[in-house]
Amino acid sequence: MEWWRTAVIYQIYPRSFADSDGDGIGDLPGITSRLPHLADLGVDALWLSPFYRSPMVDGGYDVSDYRDVDPVFGTLADFDALLAEAHRLNLRVIVDIVPNHTSSAHPWFAQGLRDRYVFAEGRGTDPPNAWQSAFGGPAWSRLPDGAWYLHSFDPGQPDLNWDNPQVRAEFADILHFWLSRGVDGFRVDVAHGLIKPDISEIPLISIFDQDRVHEIYRGWRKILDEYPGERMAVAEVFDTEPERVARYVAADELHQAFNFDFLEAPWDPAELRRIIDASLAAAAGVGAPPTWVISNHDRRRPVTRFGDGVVGLRRARAAALLMLGLPGAAYVYQGEELGLPEVLDLPDEVRTDPQWVRSGGAEPGRDGCRVPLPWEGDEPPFGFGPGERAWLPMPPDWAGRTVAAQRADPGSTLNLYRDAIRLRRPATTLTWRPAPDGVLCFETEGFLVAANLGGSAFTLPREPVLASSPVGGTLPPDTTVWMEPG
Ligand code: GLC
Repeated sequence: MEWWRTAVIYQIYPRSFADSDGDGIGDLPGITSRLPHLADLGVDALWLSPFYRSPMVDGGYDVSDYRDVDPVFGTLADFDALLAEAHRLNLRVIVDIVPNHTSSAHPWFAQGLRDRYVFAEGRGTDPPNAWQSAFGGPAWSRLPDGAWYLHSFDPGQPDLNWDNPQVRAEFADILHFWLSRGVDGFRVDVAHGLIKPDISEIPLISIFDQDRVHEIYRGWRKILDEYPGERMAVAEVFDTEPERVARYVAADELHQAFNFDFLEAPWDPAELRRIIDASLAAAAGVGAPPTWVISNHDRRRPVTRFGDGVVGLRRARAAALLMLGLPGAAYVYQGEELGLPEVLDLPDEVRTDPQWVRSGGAEPGRDGCRVPLPWEGDEPPFGFGPGERAWLPMPPDWAGRTVAAQRADPGSTLNLYRDAIRLRRPATTLTWRPAPDGVLCFETEGFLVAANLGGSAFTLPREPVLASSPVGGTLPPDTTVWMEPG
């Protein structure tokens, strides 16, 4: 079975993982120096959010050179060193690719190669149509000469025109560039955005997920298959039903897609079960593995989403064992393994997210889940780097949540993730078992899993192998356990 079908993949947000040079911003040598943490955690692979040359309008998701490392993160030689060290530690490396848009500082846009982007006639002084940007406001902006261009995200991220063969050829070449350097795969940003509907199409439900996008991924799959070693790609596809997401992971397209329904699920047993069943059915329909995720660099951290303080952490730990107990592959976002909460009280002047900026502060934005990781020590920046501070301030009360502090504590969230990932057994099927209201109980090839999402206490049929919180003979609310199957 291919490695990615049951893998645990750890997402690194390079700006916030580890800083080697003291400028307060994480970088590639910092990541390399901390790879033993990932080897110790036992994950199969890491996915790096963008580290390419960028004006950093959207944390690097605005790329101005797809074949180079931004100086703030290091050099191509630093990337090669990271890759070599990861491979030495048996960790595969997936890099982000951003094909929906470039930065407005990309030479194509800067040099006025307009046929490679989506330009359209305005309606007098109004934009060509009513499409809205994902960050708020119109999806169209004007250049000084009056021409309107499309940006599904920030105005600094003009959408590419995928009907232009030069755009297709360029991205094929970029894939080859990183594959021949040795990367194990790609995370495809806004994978469902590349093909635009007719701009006169009104009313419009979504700019995204047009049928013609699939021919692009059939082409990409052929490129991936040219390389040995089971290279893979995972698609970011959101705001559409599981059956439509599954089309991106048909046998001749990409390998996985993120499960945003699972990520967005409320702490509700019936709803979670419905989402699990729908996800399994959609993936099985195309022979792809289901995937699971509870956090990433765009979403509020689960500890804060699921409750406050003690309850939030307890549920996040239960959600982690539920996720890691499901068949298929799972994604873990940096800091999730430390049970970090969202940082809600960042001062306005340090916030950088365009979601915050473009909404005039109405939306809190995503900086609160991007606060740098605490590694060790008693005060900020907690070993993040040799400098005095990190690019976002770290809460002083994270002293007890550092990697070093949690390593020493057998009951820590870090040790829960470590035990779960190490004990986890590859599984591809799920059978529900009877359980009282509020309890989800299922068996895979790996374990018998029971998650109590707030129902009455459930008598455990056998001794747990692993529990998200202490249990006696019964399973208390907001707790998940793994037991031997059979
Ligand atoms: C994806 C990324 C997000 C980014 C957006 C635009 O959704 O995950 O961080 O802002 O694409 O590139």
